[in-house]
Amino acid sequence: MSAIESVLHERRVFPPSDKASANAAISGMDAYKALTAEAESDYEGFWARIARETLSWHKPFTKVLDESNAPFYKWFEDGELNASYNCIDRHVEAGHGGKNAIIFEADDGAVTNVTYQDLLQRVSRLANALKKQGVKKGDRVVIYLPMSVEGVVAMQACARIGATHSVVFGGFSSKSLNERLVDVGAVALITADEQMRGGKALPLKSIADEAIAAGGCDAVKSVIVYRRTGGKVAWNEGRDLWLHELVENESDQCEPEWVSAEHPLFILYTSGSTGKPKGVQHSTGGILLWAAQTMKWTFDMKPDDVFWCTADIGWITGHSYITYGPTAIGATQVMFEGVPTYPHAGRFWEMIGRHKVTIFYTAPTAIRSLIKVSEADAKVHPKSFDLSTLRILGTVGEPINPEAWMWYYENVGGAKCPIVDTWWQTETGGHMITPLPGATPLVPGSCTLPLPGIMAAIVDETGQDVPNGQGGILVVKRPWPSMLRNVWGDPDRYKSSYFPEELGGKLYLAGDGAVRDKDTGYFTIMGRIDDVLNVSGHRLGTMEIESALVSNPLVAEAAVVGRPDETTGEAVVAFVVLKQARPEGDAGTKIANELRAWVAKEIGPIAKPKDIRFGENLPKTRSGKIMRRLLRSLAKGEEITQDVSTLENPAILDQLGEAR
Ligand code: PRX
Repeated sequence: MSAIESVLHERRVFPPSDKASANAAISGMDAYKALTAEAESDYEGFWARIARETLSWHKPFTKVLDESNAPFYKWFEDGELNASYNCIDRHVEAGHGGKNAIIFEADDGAVTNVTYQDLLQRVSRLANALKKQGVKKGDRVVIYLPMSVEGVVAMQACARIGATHSVVFGGFSSKSLNERLVDVGAVALITADEQMRGGKALPLKSIADEAIAAGGCDAVKSVIVYRRTGGKVAWNEGRDLWLHELVENESDQCEPEWVSAEHPLFILYTSGSTGKPKGVQHSTGGILLWAAQTMKWTFDMKPDDVFWCTADIGWITGHSYITYGPTAIGATQVMFEGVPTYPHAGRFWEMIGRHKVTIFYTAPTAIRSLIKVSEADAKVHPKSFDLSTLRILGTVGEPINPEAWMWYYENVGGAKCPIVDTWWQTETGGHMITPLPGATPLVPGSCTLPLPGIMAAIVDETGQDVPNGQGGILVVKRPWPSMLRNVWGDPDRYKSSYFPEELGGKLYLAGDGAVRDKDTGYFTIMGRIDDVLNVSGHRLGTMEIESALVSNPLVAEAAVVGRPDETTGEAVVAFVVLKQARPEGDAGTKIANELRAWVAKEIGPIAKPKDIRFGENLPKTRSGKIMRRLLRSLAKGEEITQDVSTLENPAILDQLGEAR
């Protein structure tokens, strides 16, 4: 049975315990229904209420939602605030400056505590330094940093002066970094000499140098370098600056720049089905509001909780649930530099014990890979560690299969911690469909019900609602505050990708297929309906990988599809036609390895095809269209049952069916 089928057949239900409900922010289904009813009866009033309660406004907003230029929606536009003030100063002013904001654990196990007071000083110093470098409100700053306190400080420092940050994941190649620097028009780049992962030092500065040298980055005036390892780096006098030297003599006071709620807080690139990655543009008020509110609702965060989100700050999860969400509500969080398997595969569980983590948020891929190792080695099994402080578990980024859900529930949560399976996206800014720990009866593999105020629905190809039990296209019917505002520099793409005319132009198209349970109305996500793959929770466009492959001088043509994978959810399979004859045996293996390394260099190691198949051609219709459906079946190793009579070259299927 496939993972999706097993979710659809799942009948186990886990109601919230009395303990989980007792003090919960949303303490039961009645409370949930009351909030959804409030949102339905007075949509703007509902959002205005929580925006007033959750955020500190320098100038209160008078208008809630502006739909006059739909789908370019605006929320709370005449209100003014500052993200960094909301995440730091207001907690210090309330007397919580001594509270730990971040407990940082380095790759080698060294622990650093950063209080809200420390954070305020560090952010203010860097904010002042950025201003001295000429960075102004509205300028874009690219951040290419490892998981580090400096990463959070850099993001918050940009927010403090009204600069818009664009974080690029440290695993992306120089080419990917270059494309983003150019597209966003960065005036500064903040990077590190190296990053430490699993005991190894990996270069960042040299990749950043290559990225800038690749051209189009004339606007980048300064490259600020955090010294993480002390490893040797090339130095460009006049452009490169050490972070520690830069902030040394700066004042630790910096008046926040008050910006409109609509001011772009960040741009984060993500893969779509066509073309280059899209710069998803988010607003200050919207992101901050939803990141903070969902910390309270989804994670039921209380002042004494210790939260740990294992995502990287290079992804949206790290933005909303490391940099902004936990700090906006004044929480204490753990931040981790390294990888779950170093120095041993019990690292996550050991760290939960060490830092007394109460709420733990990770990706299904991490869970699935740890199941394998811990079932083989009792020493790294979660049961060998003290996980007694845990009270809530979460997952994000990809579907979780019921088997992995049950293992997580029993072995990590001790059968007492609710699991919040949070469905959302880079574009949605924060959680959309998720269980609530004190309210929602859980069904393994289902993200259950939309949050109050989120009008999620399932429709057919014409935009009409489909009945429960029938699969369809996942949409959101009304704008919500944390939604993306635009695709940076490409408003047409924003409209056509997210509000397509075929669906009437008003529904937000998520790009996922989903189905609602006949009885409960619970949502189950069935995966992407476009050419986007989800590998270990990382989003990759098949077209991007195809473009990378065909840019190799050996390659004539390439087609990329996904295949279900036990650990990574999906795996990349590439079908390649070389300019030379189809290679056999070792020669094929050698070229396949070369192409894998090529893709890693072009995009990043996360995009490397797991399986590369060579053919003399690709299966095409007589009009020359590649039949991707057939490629998907071949990738899975399925027998071809489809009608292949329209194929120009049916013999090719045998060649491509051979796994390497
Ligand atoms: O396909 C869905 C999947 O991840 C996609 C969004 O990817 P990204 O923008 O990188 O954001 C990931 C972190 C929020 C979605 O379109 N996805 C995300 N969460 C889930 C999920 N699929 C199933 N269940 C989830 N909980």
